Amino acid sequence: MENLITLVNKIQRACTALGDHGEESALPTLWDSLPSIAVVGGQSSGKSSVLESIVGKDFLPRGAGIVTRRPLVLQLHRIDEGKEYAEFMHLPRKKFTDFAAVRKEISDETDRETGRTKQISSVPIHLSIFSPNVVNLTLVDLPGLTKVAVEGQPESIVQDIENMVRAFIEKPNCIILAISPANQDLATSDAIKISREVDPKGERTFGVLTKIDLMDQGTNAVDILEGKSYKLQFPWIGVVNRSQADINKSVDMIAARRREREYFQNSPEYSHLANRMGSEHLGKMLSKHLELVIKSRLPGLQSLISKTIIDLEAELSRLGKPIAADAGGKLYMIMEICRAFDQNFKEHLDGVRPGGDKV
Ligand code: GDP
Ligand code: NA
Ligand code: MG
Repeated sequence: MENLITLVNKIQRACTALGDHGEESALPTLWDSLPSIAVVGGQSSGKSSVLESIVGKDFLPRGAGIVTRRPLVLQLHRIDEGKEYAEFMHLPRKKFTDFAAVRKEISDETDRETGRTKQISSVPIHLSIFSPNVVNLTLVDLPGLTKVAVEGQPESIVQDIENMVRAFIEKPNCIILAISPANQDLATSDAIKISREVDPKGERTFGVLTKIDLMDQGTNAVDILEGKSYKLQFPWIGVVNRSQADINKSVDMIAARRREREYFQNSPEYSHLANRMGSEHLGKMLSKHLELVIKSRLPGLQSLISKTIIDLEAELSRLGKPIAADAGGKLYMIMEICRAFDQNFKEHLDGVRPGGDKV
């Protein structure tokens, strides 16, 4: 049986592959119902660093200003052996083994859509990473929330980013990874502010505290990490990412993870929390949680898939035969994929009690 996250990853890819035709069919609904994890936070709060730590690879564009200007849908696929590689949905036959080239392609593809202005676009870039060192996970990196437009950007950009982020995280199936830097007052955290709006009880928000190593001397993050400052249903997770100096010195991710682990184990304030801190723990915990969420949604997902198949069949017959090569061919392919899932979901469902949660 295929891993559930892998299964849902494939449906996501299939939905996206349909492109323009998605508007007319049931697929946008299906896409919106698939559980995923979105990373939100203010600019420079450490979002890209957290993502890179989870992946254990250096591959995201970075720099001052709004670097992430399109959503990046990042699918991590665990493979048993072999060399790690990356693939973009818009370049289906190209395997990237050089992650510096991945970084460049993300920024080139961003520019292709936004035309080298500093504009943002809500059209996602889809990137898959296949590696023996990752857990199965789908993460969406979103532009950082900001308070002021910089030179060359329209005033509306502040609101545009906020609206784009909100559109992602207000979906009930979105798990929110809310990133707040420890060297700023939590009360001013953009991540907490926006996630509280859409998830007031903190039922699908994971609080991540970055930059713990940069806190003022004599202060610590124990109250936050123990959930005493801002309560969420899930425990807060503290991380120590690479500093800018580390990045400039090309400190590798494996060394950075080890140092992070030692940081928590060896500091008197945090050693009692050490086993639930750090990027490695974060990745494993998210993967487990995502799988649980998918499981609880299986009955609903399955009926949605069945409905999608019916809708696609109707759409195909509306298009008539012979099927227009492009539109019909794609729809047909997606329908076949949906049928395969229908079968696969049935197998998973056998392990789920009847009357589980609806989508
Ligand atoms: P983003 O804009 O939210 O994606 O933030 P980045 O991940 O690009 O991080 C912004 C800056 O903060 C970079 O220079 C990072 O090296 C630095 N940074 C992020 N997390 C940490 C951390 O935990 N500790 C330290 N010392 N620096 C960090
Ligand atoms: Na940044
Ligand atoms: Mg970033």
